[in-house]
Amino acid sequence: MPQRYYVTTPIYYVTDAPHIGHAYSTVTADALARWHRLLGEDVFFLTGTDEHGLKIMRAAEAKGVTPQALADDNAERYRSAWQLLEISNDDFIRTTDERHHTAVRTFLQAVYDHGDIELRTYEGLYCVACEAYYTEDEAPGGECPIHHRPLELLQEENYFFLLSRYEQRLLDWYEAHPEGVYPDSRRNEVLGFIKGGLQDISISRSSFDWGVTLPWDPKHVAWVWFDALPNYITAAGYGSDDERFRQWWPADTHLVGKDIIRFHAVYWPAMLMAAGLEPPRTVAAHGWLLVGGEKMSKTALNHIAPGDLVEEFGVDAVRHHFLRDVSFGPDGDFSYEGMVARYNSDLANNLGNLLSRVATVVDKKCGGIGPAPQDGSPLQAVAADSLAAATASWARPAPSEALESTWRLIREANAYLEANEPWKAEPGPDVDAVMGDALEALRIVALLASPAMPSACAEIWRRLGLSGRPDDEVLPAAAAWGGYPGGLPVEKGSPLFPRKKV
Ligand code: MSP
Repeated sequence: MPQRYYVTTPIYYVTDAPHIGHAYSTVTADALARWHRLLGEDVFFLTGTDEHGLKIMRAAEAKGVTPQALADDNAERYRSAWQLLEISNDDFIRTTDERHHTAVRTFLQAVYDHGDIELRTYEGLYCVACEAYYTEDEAPGGECPIHHRPLELLQEENYFFLLSRYEQRLLDWYEAHPEGVYPDSRRNEVLGFIKGGLQDISISRSSFDWGVTLPWDPKHVAWVWFDALPNYITAAGYGSDDERFRQWWPADTHLVGKDIIRFHAVYWPAMLMAAGLEPPRTVAAHGWLLVGGEKMSKTALNHIAPGDLVEEFGVDAVRHHFLRDVSFGPDGDFSYEGMVARYNSDLANNLGNLLSRVATVVDKKCGGIGPAPQDGSPLQAVAADSLAAATASWARPAPSEALESTWRLIREANAYLEANEPWKAEPGPDVDAVMGDALEALRIVALLASPAMPSACAEIWRRLGLSGRPDDEVLPAAAAWGGYPGGLPVEKGSPLFPRKKV
């Protein structure tokens, strides 16, 4: 039985079209999904859209459309952005899907039956952008700590989830599961928050009806987070297909931004425990992609659409940039200049140059037919190191380090060519040996870089004369030295990554 790997992105609010911050998150999840497929695992990769709640209602009102029309329109924009970015999700969930309403109701009923939901009157300071209440301590001056807008005083009769009951169980769970939150700085933040004392949370709204109605009291709809988080179990078959659910739950990796860690690593595991289900194995929180030092937002007018970057740089370069340029965890600054610099150094100069050199020399000195690599080549050990280091980094997950290890093989292969100067030598066994090694290094690079750049790597694979695609192969066996058989026609082709002017 192959191992299974279930990875999710957050589901995105349909208030607007996606920007590159959302793309950064989704590309990271996609690369993880692709890496695990490459390991021969059975992968389920889920993304989707979060379509209920006050925030969506207000956004729809402002546009003069119904919430459903706004959701339909923007869900489609997300879908097409993900297509453009070659996102390989296995499912796309919308919280307005009928299957989701059914699963949320089953889930709510399970928590209610467990005695963890109670009716109370509540008055509190609410941020519509977060769809969450804040205490005065958390929001000094009555301002949302994330959106820096005034909070609204709301009073409602609400059902409460008795989160306070789960303090110790959560602490015990994290004690037993050190990998439960990644990276460690976020784990500490989560533990600190739990140790600070957990308040019961309001989980229903009766002032509007854009949501999933509570099964035992249809005057209320579920709070949007109590509706959004269960998307991860709906798509795994919760309440509709027990066998499928047993296969896929718990999720292996919930990939989230740092702003929604509390929802995923405190509320969600407690909700699952209350319903008698297991918490996810790992919540991995990345930082924000900043533009000009700020988070992208409507008010800052600094949205960048993924499509604009794809048009300018190509899909592989955009994906590579997000994965390589931003380390997983801290915030990363995005700039056009930074993107051009990374593109020129990693893609045009390093990888592009290796590919075109190899193809040119094979054409001139080997009659266009790629020779086989040598056993014991100096590049063999480098390739083995790159594979081991990349494997460890993808597992953490640290995509930028995984790609750095992959690029080490590219740099060493270029250095090996420069040291041997096959372009100056007469055709013969010496040139063949060097070129076979370089072709083999490129083949291994195409495998290791394919989660980041699926199309470019498939094109390199094809130009080397190999059949199929790198993402049809299975690691680690496929990356063992000596896989390039030799005797294949190598195609020169035009530059894969033409240099950009700064
Ligand atoms: N709908 C909720 C998530 C529910 S998950 C059950 C939500 N949606 S969101 O559209 O506001 O944000 C979705 C994700 O995008 C979050 O993880 C957030 O961190 C991420 N990003 C939004 N802007 C971002 C950047 N500028 N940079 C990186 N990620 C960013 O929260």
